[in-house]
Amino acid sequence: MRVEFAFILVALSTGADCGRYTPPTNPREYDFPYTSRVPNVRDLIEHAGFRHDQYKVITGDGHILSLHRLSPPGLHSKRRGVPVLFVNGYCFQSEGWMGLGRNTSLPFILTDLGYDVWLGDERGSSRSIGHIKYSLDDVRTYSYTFHEMGIYDLPAFIDHILRETGHDRLLYVGLSLGSGIFTILESELPAYRQKVIGAVFLGPAIHLTNWQDGSLIYYGILRVFDSMIEAQIKMKKWLLLANEPVIKTALQSCSLVPVNLYLSGCLTGIGLNFGRFTGNMNATTGGVQLASVVTSTSVFVSKHLFQVLKTGEFRKYDYGNKKMNMLMYGTEKPPKYDLSKIKTPLLVMYGSVDNMAAPDAVERSIEDMTSSPMERYLLDNFNHIDFLFGRRAPKEVYVRVVDFFDRLTASYRPNNIVDQSKPANTGVTRRDKN
Ligand SMILES: *[C@@H]1O[C@H](CO)[C@@H](O)[C@H](O)[C@H]1NC(C)=O
Ligand SMILES: *[C@@H]1O[C@H](CO)[C@@H](O)[C@H](O)[C@H]1NC(C)=O
Repeated sequence: MRVEFAFILVALSTGADCGRYTPPTNPREYDFPYTSRVPNVRDLIEHAGFRHDQYKVITGDGHILSLHRLSPPGLHSKRRGVPVLFVNGYCFQSEGWMGLGRNTSLPFILTDLGYDVWLGDERGSSRSIGHIKYSLDDVRTYSYTFHEMGIYDLPAFIDHILRETGHDRLLYVGLSLGSGIFTILESELPAYRQKVIGAVFLGPAIHLTNWQDGSLIYYGILRVFDSMIEAQIKMKKWLLLANEPVIKTALQSCSLVPVNLYLSGCLTGIGLNFGRFTGNMNATTGGVQLASVVTSTSVFVSKHLFQVLKTGEFRKYDYGNKKMNMLMYGTEKPPKYDLSKIKTPLLVMYGSVDNMAAPDAVERSIEDMTSSPMERYLLDNFNHIDFLFGRRAPKEVYVRVVDFFDRLTASYRPNNIVDQSKPANTGVTRRDKN
Protein backbone atom coordinates (compact mmCIF):
# COMPACT_ATOMS: atom_id res chain seq x y z
CA MET A 1 0.00 0.00 0.00
CA ARG A 2 1.26 3.45 -0.82
CA VAL A 3 2.45 5.52 2.10
CA GLU A 4 2.40 9.14 1.14
CA PHE A 5 3.34 11.73 3.65
CA ALA A 6 2.44 14.39 1.19
CA PHE A 7 0.80 13.87 -2.12
CA ILE A 8 0.71 17.04 -4.10
CA LEU A 9 0.13 17.54 -7.77
CA VAL A 10 1.05 20.95 -8.96
CA ALA A 11 -0.73 21.76 -12.15
CA LEU A 12 0.30 25.37 -12.27
CA SER A 13 3.85 26.38 -11.70
CA THR A 14 3.68 28.33 -8.53
CA GLY A 15 7.05 27.86 -6.85
CA ALA A 16 7.34 26.65 -3.32
CA ASP A 17 8.26 29.21 -0.72
CA CYS A 18 9.61 27.35 2.18
CA GLY A 19 12.87 26.26 3.67
CA ARG A 20 16.41 27.54 3.73
CA TYR A 21 16.87 28.32 0.05
CA THR A 22 15.34 31.36 -1.57
CA PRO A 23 16.09 31.78 -5.27
CA PRO A 24 17.54 35.20 -6.14
CA THR A 25 15.22 37.80 -7.59
CA ASN A 26 17.92 39.36 -9.77
CA PRO A 27 17.67 37.67 -13.20
CA ARG A 28 21.43 38.14 -13.77
CA GLU A 29 22.15 35.61 -11.04
CA TYR A 30 20.61 32.92 -13.25
CA ASP A 31 23.15 33.42 -16.02
CA PHE A 32 25.41 30.55 -16.97
CA PRO A 33 28.91 32.06 -16.87
CA TYR A 34 30.09 30.69 -20.24
CA THR A 35 28.86 31.96 -23.58
CA SER A 36 31.41 30.55 -26.04
CA ARG A 37 33.98 28.20 -24.50
CA VAL A 38 32.60 24.84 -23.37
CA PRO A 39 33.58 24.42 -19.71
CA ASN A 40 34.37 21.14 -17.98
CA VAL A 41 33.35 20.11 -14.49
CA ARG A 42 36.48 21.59 -12.90
CA ASP A 43 36.02 24.96 -14.67
CA LEU A 44 32.43 25.16 -13.45
CA ILE A 45 33.21 24.28 -9.84
CA GLU A 46 36.27 26.52 -9.58
CA HIS A 47 34.57 29.39 -11.34
CA ALA A 48 31.95 29.31 -8.60
CA GLY A 49 34.72 29.58 -5.99
CA PHE A 50 34.69 25.98 -4.72
CA ARG A 51 37.49 23.45 -4.65
CA HIS A 52 37.20 20.53 -7.03
CA ASP A 53 38.63 17.12 -6.19
CA GLN A 54 38.43 14.27 -8.63
CA TYR A 55 38.63 10.67 -7.48
CA LYS A 56 39.01 7.47 -9.43
CA VAL A 57 36.77 4.71 -8.14
CA ILE A 58 36.98 1.07 -9.19
CA THR A 59 33.76 -0.89 -9.48
CA GLY A 60 33.23 -4.48 -8.38
CA ASP A 61 33.52 -5.55 -12.03
CA GLY A 62 36.74 -3.64 -12.67
CA HIS A 63 35.63 -0.44 -14.39
CA ILE A 64 37.38 2.82 -13.53
CA LEU A 65 35.02 5.73 -12.88
CA SER A 66 35.36 9.42 -12.03
CA LEU A 67 33.78 10.94 -8.98
CA HIS A 68 33.94 14.66 -8.16
CA ARG A 69 33.64 16.46 -4.85
CA LEU A 70 32.94 20.13 -4.18
CA SER A 71 34.43 21.84 -1.15
CA PRO A 72 33.62 25.31 0.13
CA PRO A 73 36.49 27.79 0.04
CA GLY A 74 38.63 27.82 3.17
CA LEU A 75 37.04 24.75 4.66
CA HIS A 76 38.84 23.92 7.88
CA SER A 77 36.30 21.83 9.71
CA LYS A 78 36.94 18.12 9.47
CA ARG A 79 33.27 17.44 9.82
CA ARG A 80 31.19 17.85 6.74
CA GLY A 81 27.48 17.72 6.31
CA VAL A 82 25.45 14.82 4.99
CA PRO A 83 26.81 13.68 1.62
CA VAL A 84 24.68 14.06 -1.50
CA LEU A 85 25.46 12.02 -4.62
CA PHE A 86 24.35 13.37 -8.01
CA VAL A 87 24.19 11.06 -11.03
CA ASN A 88 23.16 12.29 -14.44
CA GLY A 89 21.20 10.58 -17.20
CA TYR A 90 21.84 8.76 -20.46
CA CYS A 91 24.76 10.35 -22.39
CA PHE A 92 24.93 13.14 -19.81
CA GLN A 93 27.87 13.86 -17.50
CA SER A 94 28.36 15.83 -14.28
CA GLU A 95 28.76 19.23 -15.96
CA GLY A 96 25.01 19.48 -16.43
CA TRP A 97 24.28 19.85 -12.73
CA MET A 98 25.96 23.26 -12.79
CA GLY A 99 24.09 24.54 -15.79
CA LEU A 100 22.78 27.68 -14.14
CA GLY A 101 24.51 30.42 -12.17
CA ARG A 102 26.50 30.37 -8.93
CA ASN A 103 23.43 30.93 -6.76
CA THR A 104 21.01 28.91 -8.84
CA SER A 105 22.67 25.52 -9.52
CA LEU A 106 21.74 22.72 -7.15
CA PRO A 107 25.27 21.47 -6.21
CA PHE A 108 26.30 25.01 -5.24
CA ILE A 109 23.07 25.66 -3.35
CA LEU A 110 23.45 22.45 -1.33
CA THR A 111 27.15 23.08 -0.64
CA ASP A 112 26.30 26.57 0.62
CA LEU A 113 23.79 24.98 3.00
CA GLY A 114 26.40 22.62 4.44
CA TYR A 115 25.78 19.44 2.44
CA ASP A 116 28.80 17.56 1.11
CA VAL A 117 28.23 17.34 -2.64
CA TRP A 118 29.62 14.59 -4.89
CA LEU A 119 29.03 14.14 -8.61
CA GLY A 120 29.41 10.70 -10.21
CA ASP A 121 30.20 10.03 -13.88
CA GLU A 122 28.75 6.65 -14.82
CA ARG A 123 30.65 4.12 -16.94
CA GLY A 124 30.99 4.93 -20.63
CA SER A 125 30.93 8.71 -20.11
CA SER A 126 34.08 10.55 -21.18
CA ARG A 127 35.97 10.42 -17.85
CA SER A 128 34.73 6.96 -16.88
CA ILE A 129 36.07 4.76 -19.65
CA GLY A 130 38.61 2.12 -18.76
CA HIS A 131 38.99 -1.23 -17.11
CA ILE A 132 41.63 -2.58 -14.76
CA LYS A 133 42.18 -5.67 -16.97
CA TYR A 134 40.94 -4.91 -20.48
CA SER A 135 42.36 -2.46 -22.99
CA LEU A 136 40.39 0.38 -24.54
CA ASP A 137 39.83 -1.51 -27.80
CA ASP A 138 38.59 -4.64 -26.04
CA VAL A 139 34.84 -5.13 -26.33
CA ARG A 140 34.79 -6.21 -22.67
CA THR A 141 35.57 -2.60 -21.69
CA TYR A 142 32.12 -1.72 -23.06
CA SER A 143 30.15 -4.93 -22.43
CA TYR A 144 27.54 -3.72 -20.01
CA THR A 145 24.16 -2.07 -20.03
CA PHE A 146 22.65 0.36 -17.56
CA HIS A 147 21.95 -2.66 -15.35
CA GLU A 148 25.62 -2.64 -14.36
CA MET A 149 25.47 1.09 -13.66
CA GLY A 150 22.84 0.24 -11.05
CA ILE A 151 24.51 -2.75 -9.46
CA TYR A 152 28.19 -1.70 -9.76
CA ASP A 153 28.64 2.02 -10.42
CA LEU A 154 26.27 3.26 -7.73
CA PRO A 155 27.65 0.92 -5.04
CA ALA A 156 31.20 2.02 -5.97
CA PHE A 157 30.26 5.71 -5.66
CA ILE A 158 28.25 5.23 -2.46
CA ASP A 159 30.85 3.08 -0.71
CA HIS A 160 33.65 5.45 -1.65
CA ILE A 161 31.74 8.46 -0.33
CA LEU A 162 30.75 6.79 2.93
CA ARG A 163 34.29 5.57 3.52
CA GLU A 164 35.81 8.96 2.75
CA THR A 165 33.33 10.98 4.84
CA GLY A 166 32.69 8.63 7.73
CA HIS A 167 28.96 9.04 7.29
CA ASP A 168 26.89 5.88 7.15
CA ARG A 169 24.14 7.15 4.86
CA LEU A 170 23.75 9.66 2.05
CA LEU A 171 21.21 11.44 -0.13
CA TYR A 172 20.80 10.90 -3.85
CA VAL A 173 19.76 13.00 -6.84
CA GLY A 174 19.26 11.37 -10.25
CA LEU A 175 18.12 12.85 -13.52
CA SER A 176 16.47 10.61 -16.10
CA LEU A 177 18.40 7.32 -16.30
CA GLY A 178 20.22 8.46 -13.14
CA SER A 179 16.90 7.73 -11.41
CA GLY A 180 16.34 4.51 -13.34
CA ILE A 181 19.67 3.02 -12.25
CA PHE A 182 18.87 3.93 -8.64
CA THR A 183 15.73 1.77 -8.84
CA ILE A 184 17.91 -1.05 -10.19
CA LEU A 185 20.27 -0.68 -7.24
CA GLU A 186 17.44 -0.88 -4.72
CA SER A 187 15.55 -3.68 -6.37
CA GLU A 188 18.62 -5.81 -7.05
CA LEU A 189 20.70 -5.02 -3.95
CA PRO A 190 18.23 -4.24 -1.14
CA ALA A 191 21.09 -4.00 1.39
CA TYR A 192 21.90 -0.58 -0.10
CA ARG A 193 18.63 0.78 1.29
CA GLN A 194 20.42 1.12 4.62
CA LYS A 195 22.89 3.50 3.03
CA VAL A 196 20.44 5.97 1.53
CA ILE A 197 18.34 8.46 3.49
CA GLY A 198 16.30 9.65 0.54
CA ALA A 199 16.41 10.16 -3.21
CA VAL A 200 15.23 12.77 -5.69
CA PHE A 201 14.14 11.62 -9.14
CA LEU A 202 14.02 14.34 -11.80
CA GLY A 203 12.30 13.34 -15.05
CA PRO A 204 12.92 9.69 -14.12
CA ALA A 205 13.57 7.26 -16.97
CA ILE A 206 12.15 4.02 -15.59
CA HIS A 207 9.14 2.81 -17.56
CA LEU A 208 9.07 4.89 -20.75
CA THR A 209 6.45 5.65 -23.30
CA ASN A 210 6.36 2.89 -25.86
CA TRP A 211 7.88 4.72 -28.82
CA GLN A 212 5.33 3.32 -31.21
CA ASP A 213 2.67 5.23 -29.31
CA GLY A 214 4.64 8.44 -29.80
CA SER A 215 4.19 11.06 -32.44
CA LEU A 216 5.30 10.23 -35.96
CA ILE A 217 8.40 12.42 -35.99
CA TYR A 218 9.58 11.24 -32.58
CA TYR A 219 9.14 7.64 -33.70
CA GLY A 220 11.04 8.37 -36.91
CA ILE A 221 14.02 9.90 -35.13
CA LEU A 222 14.19 7.03 -32.66
CA ARG A 223 14.09 4.53 -35.49
CA VAL A 224 17.03 6.19 -37.21
CA PHE A 225 18.91 6.26 -33.92
CA ASP A 226 18.10 2.61 -33.29
CA SER A 227 19.50 1.52 -36.64
CA MET A 228 22.60 3.65 -36.02
CA ILE A 229 23.23 1.68 -32.85
CA GLU A 230 22.85 -1.64 -34.67
CA ALA A 231 25.19 -0.43 -37.43
CA GLN A 232 27.82 0.60 -34.88
CA ILE A 233 27.66 -2.78 -33.18
CA LYS A 234 28.21 -4.47 -36.55
CA MET A 235 31.21 -2.22 -37.14
CA LYS A 236 32.54 -3.04 -33.65
CA LYS A 237 32.43 0.58 -32.55
CA TRP A 238 31.49 0.20 -28.96
CA LEU A 239 31.15 3.82 -27.96
CA LEU A 240 28.27 5.97 -29.00
CA LEU A 241 29.03 9.67 -29.58
CA ALA A 242 32.71 8.78 -29.58
CA ASN A 243 33.06 11.60 -32.09
CA GLU A 244 32.22 14.05 -29.37
CA PRO A 245 34.01 17.13 -30.72
CA VAL A 246 31.75 17.03 -33.78
CA ILE A 247 28.62 16.73 -31.71
CA LYS A 248 29.75 19.39 -29.28
CA THR A 249 30.54 21.83 -32.06
CA ALA A 250 27.14 21.17 -33.59
CA LEU A 251 25.41 21.79 -30.29
CA GLN A 252 27.48 24.84 -29.56
CA SER A 253 26.69 26.33 -32.92
CA CYS A 254 23.04 26.25 -31.91
CA SER A 255 23.78 29.28 -29.82
CA LEU A 256 24.92 31.22 -32.87
CA VAL A 257 21.59 30.86 -34.60
CA PRO A 258 19.05 33.58 -33.82
CA VAL A 259 16.97 32.90 -30.74
CA ASN A 260 13.70 31.62 -32.13
CA LEU A 261 15.21 29.56 -34.85
CA TYR A 262 17.57 27.98 -32.38
CA LEU A 263 15.08 27.09 -29.76
CA SER A 264 12.28 25.98 -31.99
CA GLY A 265 14.38 24.29 -34.66
CA CYS A 266 17.97 23.58 -33.80
CA LEU A 267 17.66 22.44 -30.22
CA THR A 268 14.30 20.77 -30.63
CA GLY A 269 15.55 18.94 -33.70
CA ILE A 270 18.58 17.51 -31.93
CA GLY A 271 16.92 16.87 -28.66
CA LEU A 272 13.38 16.07 -29.63
CA ASN A 273 13.24 13.49 -26.91
CA PHE A 274 13.83 16.20 -24.33
CA GLY A 275 10.38 17.52 -25.05
CA ARG A 276 9.04 20.54 -26.77
CA PHE A 277 10.43 24.03 -26.45
CA THR A 278 9.30 25.61 -23.21
CA GLY A 279 11.21 28.89 -23.31
CA ASN A 280 12.77 28.07 -19.94
CA MET A 281 16.30 27.92 -21.28
CA ASN A 282 18.50 30.91 -22.12
CA ALA A 283 19.00 30.87 -25.88
CA THR A 284 22.39 32.60 -25.70
CA THR A 285 23.97 29.95 -23.52
CA GLY A 286 21.81 26.93 -24.41
CA GLY A 287 24.20 25.48 -26.96
CA VAL A 288 27.18 25.73 -24.61
CA GLN A 289 25.20 24.23 -21.73
CA LEU A 290 24.21 21.27 -23.89
CA ALA A 291 27.69 20.87 -25.33
CA SER A 292 29.13 20.68 -21.81
CA VAL A 293 26.71 18.00 -20.62
CA VAL A 294 26.63 15.52 -23.52
CA THR A 295 29.04 12.64 -23.40
CA SER A 296 29.65 9.14 -24.70
CA THR A 297 28.12 5.84 -23.67
CA SER A 298 28.38 2.18 -24.62
CA VAL A 299 26.29 0.99 -27.56
CA PHE A 300 24.92 -1.75 -25.32
CA VAL A 301 23.61 0.78 -22.82
CA SER A 302 21.85 2.42 -25.76
CA LYS A 303 20.52 -0.90 -26.98
CA HIS A 304 19.05 -1.66 -23.57
CA LEU A 305 17.47 1.80 -23.37
CA PHE A 306 15.92 1.31 -26.80
CA GLN A 307 14.46 -1.98 -25.66
CA VAL A 308 12.70 -0.04 -22.91
CA LEU A 309 11.51 2.48 -25.49
CA LYS A 310 10.20 -0.27 -27.75
CA THR A 311 8.28 -2.11 -25.04
CA GLY A 312 7.56 0.80 -22.71
CA GLU A 313 8.62 -1.45 -19.82
CA PHE A 314 11.61 -1.28 -17.51
CA ARG A 315 12.96 -4.79 -17.98
CA LYS A 316 16.37 -6.40 -17.86
CA TYR A 317 18.43 -6.61 -21.05
CA ASP A 318 16.93 -8.76 -23.79
CA TYR A 319 19.62 -10.95 -25.36
CA GLY A 320 17.45 -11.23 -28.41
CA ASN A 321 17.05 -14.99 -28.23
CA LYS A 322 14.91 -17.10 -25.98
CA LYS A 323 17.64 -19.62 -25.15
CA MET A 324 20.04 -16.97 -23.90
CA ASN A 325 17.32 -15.23 -21.90
CA MET A 326 16.31 -18.60 -20.46
CA LEU A 327 19.91 -19.23 -19.43
CA MET A 328 20.37 -15.79 -17.87
CA TYR A 329 16.97 -15.23 -16.30
CA GLY A 330 15.14 -18.56 -16.34
CA THR A 331 12.44 -16.95 -18.50
CA GLU A 332 12.14 -16.40 -22.25
CA LYS A 333 11.32 -12.74 -21.76
CA PRO A 334 13.63 -10.67 -19.56
CA PRO A 335 12.05 -9.98 -16.16
CA LYS A 336 10.81 -6.57 -15.11
CA TYR A 337 12.76 -4.76 -12.42
CA ASP A 338 10.74 -5.14 -9.24
CA LEU A 339 9.93 -1.52 -8.40
CA SER A 340 7.91 -2.56 -5.35
CA LYS A 341 11.24 -3.28 -3.63
CA ILE A 342 12.09 0.43 -3.47
CA LYS A 343 11.54 1.61 0.07
CA THR A 344 13.61 4.81 0.21
CA PRO A 345 11.67 8.06 0.64
CA LEU A 346 11.42 9.67 -2.77
CA LEU A 347 10.78 13.10 -4.19
CA VAL A 348 9.69 12.64 -7.80
CA MET A 349 9.38 15.57 -10.20
CA TYR A 350 8.43 15.30 -13.82
CA GLY A 351 7.53 17.66 -16.63
CA SER A 352 4.27 17.88 -18.51
CA VAL A 353 5.97 18.23 -21.93
CA ASP A 354 8.87 15.84 -21.35
CA ASN A 355 8.97 13.25 -24.15
CA MET A 356 11.68 11.09 -22.62
CA ALA A 357 10.09 10.75 -19.18
CA ALA A 358 6.55 11.51 -20.29
CA PRO A 359 3.92 11.93 -17.56
CA ASP A 360 2.02 8.74 -18.44
CA ALA A 361 5.22 6.67 -18.21
CA VAL A 362 6.39 8.31 -14.97
CA GLU A 363 2.96 7.70 -13.49
CA ARG A 364 3.17 4.01 -14.44
CA SER A 365 6.52 3.82 -12.62
CA ILE A 366 5.00 5.59 -9.62
CA GLU A 367 2.13 3.06 -9.60
CA ASP A 368 4.69 0.27 -9.36
CA MET A 369 6.75 1.88 -6.60
CA THR A 370 4.19 0.77 -4.07
CA SER A 371 6.33 0.74 -0.97
CA SER A 372 8.24 3.99 -1.01
CA PRO A 373 7.01 7.07 0.86
CA MET A 374 6.75 9.55 -1.96
CA GLU A 375 6.15 13.19 -2.73
CA ARG A 376 5.55 14.01 -6.36
CA TYR A 377 5.13 17.08 -8.49
CA LEU A 378 4.07 17.38 -12.09
CA LEU A 379 5.56 20.60 -13.45
CA ASP A 380 3.58 22.42 -16.07
CA ASN A 381 5.34 23.29 -19.35
CA PHE A 382 8.58 21.65 -18.23
CA ASN A 383 10.75 19.42 -20.46
CA HIS A 384 13.54 16.91 -19.81
CA ILE A 385 16.44 19.36 -19.65
CA ASP A 386 14.62 22.16 -17.86
CA PHE A 387 15.55 20.35 -14.63
CA LEU A 388 19.17 21.32 -15.33
CA PHE A 389 19.00 24.42 -17.49
CA GLY A 390 15.54 25.90 -17.10
CA ARG A 391 15.33 29.22 -15.36
CA ARG A 392 12.28 28.05 -13.42
CA ALA A 393 14.23 25.13 -11.90
CA PRO A 394 15.57 26.97 -8.81
CA LYS A 395 12.12 28.21 -7.81
CA GLU A 396 10.09 25.13 -8.67
CA VAL A 397 12.55 22.25 -8.31
CA TYR A 398 15.61 23.12 -6.20
CA VAL A 399 13.62 24.82 -3.42
CA ARG A 400 11.71 21.57 -2.99
CA VAL A 401 14.86 19.43 -3.09
CA VAL A 402 16.43 21.53 -0.31
CA ASP A 403 13.26 21.35 1.74
CA PHE A 404 12.98 17.57 1.23
CA PHE A 405 16.62 16.98 2.22
CA ASP A 406 16.39 19.31 5.22
CA ARG A 407 13.32 17.47 6.51
CA LEU A 408 14.87 14.03 5.98
CA THR A 409 18.14 14.94 7.65
CA ALA A 410 16.55 16.77 10.59
CA SER A 411 16.05 13.38 12.24
CA TYR A 412 19.17 11.73 10.85
CA ARG A 413 22.00 11.22 13.31
CA PRO A 414 25.20 9.96 11.77
CA ASN A 415 26.59 7.37 14.16
CA ASN A 416 29.94 6.80 12.64
CA ILE A 417 31.77 10.06 12.02
CA VAL A 418 35.48 9.33 11.79
CA ASP A 419 38.30 11.76 12.31
CA GLN A 420 39.11 12.83 8.79
CA SER A 421 42.57 14.03 9.66
CA LYS A 422 43.48 10.35 9.39
CA PRO A 423 43.68 9.22 5.80
CA ALA A 424 40.51 7.42 4.84
CA ASN A 425 40.84 3.78 3.92
CA THR A 426 41.53 4.19 0.26
CA GLY A 427 41.15 0.49 -0.55
CA VAL A 428 40.32 0.29 -4.20
CA THR A 429 40.28 4.04 -4.70
CA ARG A 430 42.94 6.59 -5.26
CA ARG A 431 43.02 10.35 -5.39
CA ASP A 432 43.47 11.63 -8.90
CA LYS A 433 46.14 14.32 -8.84
CA ASN A 434 45.65 16.36 -12.08
C1 LIG B 1 25.31 35.23 -5.27
O1 LIG B 1 24.71 35.74 -4.10
C2 LIG B 1 25.57 36.59 -3.36
C3 LIG B 1 24.87 36.91 -2.05
O2 LIG B 1 23.55 37.25 -2.26
C4 LIG B 1 25.88 37.82 -4.18
O3 LIG B 1 26.72 38.68 -3.46
C5 LIG B 1 26.57 37.37 -5.47
O4 LIG B 1 26.80 38.47 -6.31
C6 LIG B 1 25.75 36.34 -6.20
N1 LIG B 1 26.57 35.77 -7.28
C7 LIG B 1 26.23 35.82 -8.55
C8 LIG B 1 27.18 35.22 -9.52
O5 LIG B 1 25.19 36.29 -8.96
C1 LIG C 1 21.27 34.75 -21.17
O1 LIG C 1 22.61 34.61 -20.76
C2 LIG C 1 23.44 35.69 -21.15
C3 LIG C 1 24.86 35.30 -20.82
O2 LIG C 1 25.03 34.91 -19.50
C4 LIG C 1 22.98 36.95 -20.46
O3 LIG C 1 23.79 38.03 -20.81
C5 LIG C 1 21.52 37.23 -20.84
O4 LIG C 1 21.04 38.31 -20.09
C6 LIG C 1 20.64 36.02 -20.59
N1 LIG C 1 19.36 36.23 -21.24
C7 LIG C 1 18.22 36.25 -20.61
C8 LIG C 1 16.99 36.45 -21.40
O5 LIG C 1 18.15 36.10 -19.41
